[in-house]
Amino acid sequence: MRHLLSTRDLSRDEAITILDVAEDMADVAEREVRKVPALRGKTVVNLFFEDSTRTRISFEAAAKRLSADVINFSAKGSSVSKGESLKDTAQTLAAIGADAVVIRHGASGAPRVLANSGWIDAAIVNAGDGTHEHPTQALLDAFTIRRRLHGADSRGHDLDGVSVTIVGDILHSRVARSNAWLLTTLGASITFVAPATLLPIGIENWPVEVRYDLDIALAAKPDVVMMLRIQGERMHAAFFPSAREYSRIWGLDDERLAVLAADSIVMHPGPMNRGLEISAAAADSPRSTVREQVANGVSIRMAVLYLTLSGEGGKQ
Ligand code: CP
Repeated sequence: MRHLLSTRDLSRDEAITILDVAEDMADVAEREVRKVPALRGKTVVNLFFEDSTRTRISFEAAAKRLSADVINFSAKGSSVSKGESLKDTAQTLAAIGADAVVIRHGASGAPRVLANSGWIDAAIVNAGDGTHEHPTQALLDAFTIRRRLHGADSRGHDLDGVSVTIVGDILHSRVARSNAWLLTTLGASITFVAPATLLPIGIENWPVEVRYDLDIALAAKPDVVMMLRIQGERMHAAFFPSAREYSRIWGLDDERLAVLAADSIVMHPGPMNRGLEISAAAADSPRSTVREQVANGVSIRMAVLYLTLSGEGGKQ
């Protein structure tokens, strides 16, 4: 695998290879010394033009557990603030010998531009680009679902027959997009639930069912309920009347938590707006996989760095 830019590009076999390698990486986390020499001598640059907690620190932990050298670059405090272009930034990283660039950028498509540019000969990993995709988030979500269904050794399994309901700000969500492609490739069925104002134009062409009523969607007893963050920083208009109204109609509150099937799980990519899209009881309940998702993110990102930098894992 040369780059990881999108889950839309992944075949079922490529996706399962990443999940299976992540199982091997999770085994490393169980050891007394949580480190392997697989990427010794390689340099990974975390190039973040947008804020992040989970993705940035888990890529850093992943690279370090594989013994790579890690350089963390945040646009704030860098020469990007002085107007330096993506091209000049990339050529600077090339000059210092970056083998992989993990990029988060506010512009949809920026990782693909970097991968196709010729400015730098490095593996490019998309850590979230605008409202386009967040492929490692979807991979860690798939990994988390698969582990909850099949236990710690779920190697080889896909998600055939699993029902996943994704609720909230679909319009601005790169997580929803990456999950829609990846989870359907793995055999799951996806339902989006949102106000009409928070659904993208052309949603009818996506491989998903669309509902507007959360209570009707939850009555179908989905295996997985994934709540999305309301992305206030990307909203330049009023998409719903008020936070209270949104929470009442589309929030996973305590009453809705109580109607879920006994073995269903509640997911959230984080960061959460507690009390808006998800109640504290739902976020902290035994059904919630929020902290598992973060832990699994390290294993998935180890797998992605290993596969891109070792050249294994398929054609991409
Ligand atoms: N889920 C996610 O991408 O979180 P961060 O923005 O904290 O990286």
